Amino acid sequence: MHHFSYQNSSLHCEGVDLNAVADAVGTPCYVYSSATFRHHAQVIARAFEGQDCLIAYSVKANGNLAILSTLAREGCGADVVSGGEMQRALKAGIPASRIVFSGVGKTAPEMDLALSHGIHQFNVESAGELRLLSAVASALGKTAPIALRVNPDVAAGGHPNISTGKKGDKFGIPWSQAEALYAEAATLPGIAVVGVDVHIGSQIGDLVPMRAAFEKIVGLTGRLRAAGHSISRIDVGGGLGIPYKAGDAPAPPSAYAGMIAEVMAGLGVQVILEPGRVIAGNAGVMLATVLYEKPAPDRTFLILDAGMNDLMRPALYDAHHDILPVEEAAADAPTAAYDVVGPICESTDKFAVARQLPAVAPGDRLAFMSAGAYGAVLSSAYNARPLVPEVLVHGDRFDIVRRRPTFDEMVELEQVPDWLTRTA
Ligand code: LLP
Repeated sequence: MHHFSYQNSSLHCEGVDLNAVADAVGTPCYVYSSATFRHHAQVIARAFEGQDCLIAYSVKANGNLAILSTLAREGCGADVVSGGEMQRALKAGIPASRIVFSGVGKTAPEMDLALSHGIHQFNVESAGELRLLSAVASALGKTAPIALRVNPDVAAGGHPNISTGKKGDKFGIPWSQAEALYAEAATLPGIAVVGVDVHIGSQIGDLVPMRAAFEKIVGLTGRLRAAGHSISRIDVGGGLGIPYKAGDAPAPPSAYAGMIAEVMAGLGVQVILEPGRVIAGNAGVMLATVLYEKPAPDRTFLILDAGMNDLMRPALYDAHHDILPVEEAAADAPTAAYDVVGPICESTDKFAVARQLPAVAPGDRLAFMSAGAYGAVLSSAYNARPLVPEVLVHGDRFDIVRRRPTFDEMVELEQVPDWLTRTA
């Protein structure tokens, strides 16, 4: 569900005409619906009502401060994977007590930062990390609450580039080593074992692999408790899929919550969720303008002012994004097949191949739907293009929540050494 729809024949976000945003901000730009963000957070909260649960929004999906502030006001916590994400979450008003710190490569300064703020939990991914965390915590006179992220060796559909829970993936503690590492954790002075963590992948529409992974985790929890560990939390990660196109029907949050309630019944644990895409994905679009229509013998290219540096998902994962004209086409308007591409000097700078679109012309604006998650966060300034701006809509107002940098800002961190600038 989202708040993008045609009104008076132009695409709107809530009460705002996307043409007005494009006129004011220029394209490319991202536009987010605060109502959709709030709605998704509430749907998840409602689905888990009655379960002891922490919704730790996965900041990597969309870490704009205005988005994090929106979700903080809905009571969300945060799942972070770097000191930077942690500082974003804290700055947006998410309390440290609702922050979990995931990721395979935490550094000592990041651990230090998290410990001094008193975060809820570290999700530890290796023996080396566990030992370093114990040392860092001991030096601070603190104890780090930890879950081990275990790799349950369960294949979850989705694109191979976003699957994480199979043997051979770099993520998590190999299943066969988990219990031994818990035993070691119990002996480390700076560590308090509090839970088990798992995350098997992203854009998973089918609950079967998730259930299989969670059942294995429940079994492991029983064995860990029998061995004397006090396991009071299970972090089930993120991964719930969203519809990207008509006909997609991923499992909804209500079914997901029901499955978790069933699998974890009677366990007496706090369930930690790390949803990213399911909250952010359909809450944002990227706007672009058609620059040129370029006929080739076997196809027609539509060259846009947005490139793969602005929206990486098609280049990285062959991802599909629906493309809608901002000016609504008549229902019976003829369509044509276009290869929709950007201006970047890379062959992978291709958003869609042979996509049927109503006839468009230079100057027309297009909206890439479902671009709220892993859109702006993955953007870069490749080809010396300014980072794409972001706009947040609230009812009939919109605010720029990240502006387009000027050229001077783009180069302000660079310095030419004086031996290159001396004249003689
Ligand atoms: N927790 C952990 C440990 C994760 O690694 C991830 C995503 C999440 C939670 C959030 O997963 P979500 O609910 O968003 O599926 N850039 C890719 C997706 C990468 C996902 C990385 N990890 C894409 O655009 O499809």
